Amino acid sequence: MSRWESPEPLEMLPSGRRQLHLVGFMGSGKSTVGRLLARELVWNFLDLDGLICRHAEMTVPEIFDDLGEPGFRKIEAHVFRQASRKPRAVVALGGGTFIDPDNRVISSEVATTVWLRCGFDVVRNRLGPRSFAGRPMWKDEDSARRLLADRDETYALADITLDAEGEPESVAAAVLSALGIDR
Ligand code: S3P
Repeated sequence: MSRWESPEPLEMLPSGRRQLHLVGFMGSGKSTVGRLLARELVWNFLDLDGLICRHAEMTVPEIFDDLGEPGFRKIEAHVFRQASRKPRAVVALGGGTFIDPDNRVISSEVATTVWLRCGFDVVRNRLGPRSFAGRPMWKDEDSARRLLADRDETYALADITLDAEGEPESVAAAVLSALGIDR
């Protein structure tokens, strides 16, 4: 992908928003595609799970073990609110962040939201056993399949929906084009 040629980084997206939020299920490519987009826009890249771990000084499984899902969601909401104040940021949300209505209000205030839509088989094959271990919400195949099916209608509330089953570079290019950014 060629670099964005503007001499100055964009202050905001063509939509007038100062952040781009990538939403979608575990394994949909939010972090990988987000990094590519941030490089292209010369914006900051924020990985919400990484920020949560730094804030809590624990891994995601440790947070779930110590505080349960409710405790994790509380930290997630707090860190997300802080992250939403940063200028020029591509934010890879966690798979559950956008499911919370209060988080969606924050997204709608600061960001253009893009759902990276993937079918279950694609995310399962991308993640594999090592990644499942780091994702407490991926309990087993059946429950993960149901979770994805339950969440899809909420992810669909994002401003833009894109098929994200292809290579990260082509997904990132599709995001830029859907945003109206000409390269
Ligand atoms: C979660 C997804 C994870 C992480 C946590 C909970 C979820 O993020 O936030 O394990 O509820 O789907 P990724 O989507 O980056 O794996």
